Amino acid sequence: MAEPAASAGPDGREVRLARAEDLADPRLAPYTTLTDAALRRRVDAEHGVFLAESSQVVRRALAAGHTPRSFLLGDRYRESFADVLAAHPDVPLFTGPDEVLTSLTGFHLHRGALAAMDRPAPRPVTDVLAGARRVLIAEDLVDHTNLGAVVRSAVALGWDALLLTPQAADPLYRRAIRVSMGTVFRLPWARLEGPVAEAVPALREAGFAVAALEVTERAVGLDSPELEPLRSADRLALVLGQEGPGVRTETLEHTDADVVISMPDGVDSLNVAAAAAVALWELRAR
Ligand SMILES: C[S@@+](CC[C@H](N)C(=O)[O-])C[C@H]1O[C@@H](n2cnc3c(N)ncnc32)[C@H](O)[C@@H]1O
Repeated sequence: MAEPAASAGPDGREVRLARAEDLADPRLAPYTTLTDAALRRRVDAEHGVFLAESSQVVRRALAAGHTPRSFLLGDRYRESFADVLAAHPDVPLFTGPDEVLTSLTGFHLHRGALAAMDRPAPRPVTDVLAGARRVLIAEDLVDHTNLGAVVRSAVALGWDALLLTPQAADPLYRRAIRVSMGTVFRLPWARLEGPVAEAVPALREAGFAVAALEVTERAVGLDSPELEPLRSADRLALVLGQEGPGVRTETLEHTDADVVISMPDGVDSLNVAAAAAVALWELRAR
């Protein structure tokens, strides 16, 4: 027998999704096309949302004060999410069997829960820098997994803020959030209006030493005593380069120093998130 059409649950706030046709509800628009990052950027901006994925990440977003617009929950996860639902009785809840949710989201919803949340207003760079001693600059980092891993390390190693170039990935893209394990909600971040080179004078003016993490001729080894002034700098901004090309030449022309993690002959580079983890520890504020 065919499943009944979408229906409201006993508490009036729940909509049970049973068939593909039920997915026409406009409130479900933020949940479509989850796997296409470029499309997502447009969908998220259009609807002013970001998506938190997995029960843990949703909880962290809520704990950080983000406002849920709706929840989408696989039937199996209902019980383990009951406390969240009880704490937000007015937020619409969409539930359904796995196959229906998969046809909506474009991927298997194996982590149980998704929440569409209001996207916070962009923060000004000056706001994010206020009081920060250690700031990471993601120059054109386009990979959401790398960005999420970088954010996780930055928070775990006590860095205070993140700046991104206009081309860099979105820290609030579903996958970046999940790889960061929701730590992105603890890290103040802002987007620069232009290239890093243009931001360097203002950073210097604010008392930051500006260094690039990059394999260059002039780079100083991360473990070198020569790096002591950078290690003990009161304020430090560290630029990470794009996955393929690395830190832009124009940026390197403006930084105070380049820092390299020495590698054996024949090895070109580390993954940017791995390199960041090593350097963030060594250059942390003390
Ligand atoms: C994968 S690398 C870019 C490609 C690299 N320029 C190359 O030619 O192989 C991405 C970023 O990771 C960081 N990185 C990777 N390995 C590094 C190392 N050994 N020392 C310093 N930075 C490194 C830099 O910030 C670099 O821009």
